[in-house]
Amino acid sequence: MQYRHLGKSGLRVSALSLGSWITYHNQVDAKLAAEMLAAAFDAGVNFFDNAEAYALGKSEEIMGAALRQLGWPRLNYIVSTKFFWGIDRSVPAERAVNRRDTLNRKYLMQAIDGSLKRLGLEHVDLVYCHRPDPTTPVEEAARAMNDIIVAGKALYWGTSEWPAEAIRTAWQLADRHGWHKPLMEQPQYHLFHRKRVEVEYAPLYGEIGLGLTTWSPLASGLLTGKYRAGIPAGSRGAMDNMAFMRGNLTDAARNAAVARLEPIAAELGGTLAQLAVAWAARNEHVSTVITGASSREQLASNLGAMALVERLTPEVLARIDAVTAALAD
Ligand SMILES: NC(=O)c1ccc[n+]([C@@H]2O[C@H](COP(=O)([O-])OP(=O)(O)OC[C@H]3O[C@@H](n4cnc5c(N)ncnc54)[C@H](OP(=O)(O)O)[C@@H]3O)[C@@H](O)[C@H]2O)c1
Repeated sequence: MQYRHLGKSGLRVSALSLGSWITYHNQVDAKLAAEMLAAAFDAGVNFFDNAEAYALGKSEEIMGAALRQLGWPRLNYIVSTKFFWGIDRSVPAERAVNRRDTLNRKYLMQAIDGSLKRLGLEHVDLVYCHRPDPTTPVEEAARAMNDIIVAGKALYWGTSEWPAEAIRTAWQLADRHGWHKPLMEQPQYHLFHRKRVEVEYAPLYGEIGLGLTTWSPLASGLLTGKYRAGIPAGSRGAMDNMAFMRGNLTDAARNAAVARLEPIAAELGGTLAQLAVAWAARNEHVSTVITGASSREQLASNLGAMALVERLTPEVLARIDAVTAALAD
């Protein structure tokens, strides 16, 4: 495993990390979660990603139960959560104080307490604004994030899928007021989705020392090649609540490109999935690639991706680009 500074902070995060979206509660229970966390930790992973909204809080409960079972010293691992959608469904959205997609202060200051309770932790290491909220001033969200940190409930804060300009505004406001500044962004980044990381955010790496914790390195499984002949039973694409992503997963042009990547992966001595994860990890601005896995076997295989990073020479990267770049957004 490699370790990289999270942006310009002193915190060292493993280049590959493990997240819980969709898998926890739907595919992975607390027992399997503990086994997979332990396997990842043994392979050098020190960061485990979560969010309030994942399985409406159940993902945090499962990770909390697994962490209690494992009993690791708190200093040795990094846990995150993220806020935006809210999980309280006790009143209809149209009359809810917090709306359901918000970064208002009331929601954020209460949401952190719920997450800490579910996780069974005194603090999370990383807390994110899970999406931008055009109806709440950036100043309000940035100050609440600062106050969560000042209260000792989180250590670093960042954003997920915010436009570069909004990240810059939040950083400047924090700088002016002496607040904790946003340190990291959590964007989607894989062979078919790369422009935000490679173009839009490019000035921010030097300007404010932005770190990246990137998500969906396999494009939800598309880059493993498993959707080339349709949607396999038991896969993410077959889940009822994932119907919205079936069009992307079965896209003919992208699946044809994945087939053309297979010999390149084989030449490098790896699988398609390992090639895709390694491709994301080879970007020096990426602090950590958050992987996802619904089984121990997938996890073990994906953690083998680091071996391929150094084999991604400029010549190999050019061959990969020739197959995928025109299909990427
Ligand atoms: N900030 C955000 O908005 C955001 C959004 C999405 C994700 N995330 C974070 O990023 C993490 C990773 O995202 P992701 O789960 O979408 O990552 P991904 O790597 O794109 O997809 C992971 C899924 O692909 C399948 N898979 C993984 N390895 C495989 C292998 N070797 N062979 C075959 N299939 C394999 C599994 O699904 P099946 O077995 O079910 O097919 C697995 O759950 C999440 O857990 C979450 O922490 C953040």
